[in-house]
Amino acid sequence: MNIQFHKPYSESCDQNRDPILEVIKPLLTEKISVLEIGSGTGQHAVYFAQKMPHLIWQTSDQKTYHEGIKLWLDDTDLDNTPPPISLNVSTNTWPNQSYDAIFSANAVHIMAWYNVVDFFKNAPKLVNKGGLFILYGPFNYNQQYTSESNARFDIWLKQRDPHSAIRDFEALDELAQKAGMTLQSDHALPANNRILVWEKT
Ligand SMILES: C[S@@+](CC[C@H](N)C(=O)[O-])C[C@H]1O[C@@H](n2cnc3c(N)ncnc32)[C@H](O)[C@@H]1O
Repeated sequence: MNIQFHKPYSESCDQNRDPILEVIKPLLTEKISVLEIGSGTGQHAVYFAQKMPHLIWQTSDQKTYHEGIKLWLDDTDLDNTPPPISLNVSTNTWPNQSYDAIFSANAVHIMAWYNVVDFFKNAPKLVNKGGLFILYGPFNYNQQYTSESNARFDIWLKQRDPHSAIRDFEALDELAQKAGMTLQSDHALPANNRILVWEKT
């Protein structure tokens, strides 16, 4: 039997990639290496790597996502997107390398809270001094949703997996501070999403 694997596609990636790019491009002009956590389809990686050719954009995700990411990387055939690395934030598979920035989109509301704790404990260790930790997604502030649509999304997330949830900015910032990161900026994006940027000080 010949099973063909289809290239995965996320419509939301196409919708959010330009607003994300607008925020992260000026932050990454002086940077060289970026590690992406939870690359998913790989669409963000190829788009951002194309638009910022001075960067080496390293994709990563759990093994099941690799085939799809590789299809996107192969189709674009860029010089600055090495093959994905296998990385679960809660296992001992963190690369033995440092990066100028870590980027992750829409991952911390999918992971269980203990994964988020592991993520924030381990990722900053890989960031060079002056480097950035950049998260995109929906966040709550003072345990309040920022919109009705985020409240509905949170219900949907929890029905799908009771360990998933929109995370509180304050709880994430506390984890980041413990790991030696200082909040540099917080940007409003379309569809009630945000980009949080911490700097390794
Ligand atoms: C909703 S998808 C987002 C994918 C992509 N970043 C995007 O914005 O379209 C959530 C991602 O988080 C990743 N993820 C969930 N738990 C993880 C873990 N423990 N370690 C690493 N990645 C994880 C999933 O594998 C998936 O790629």
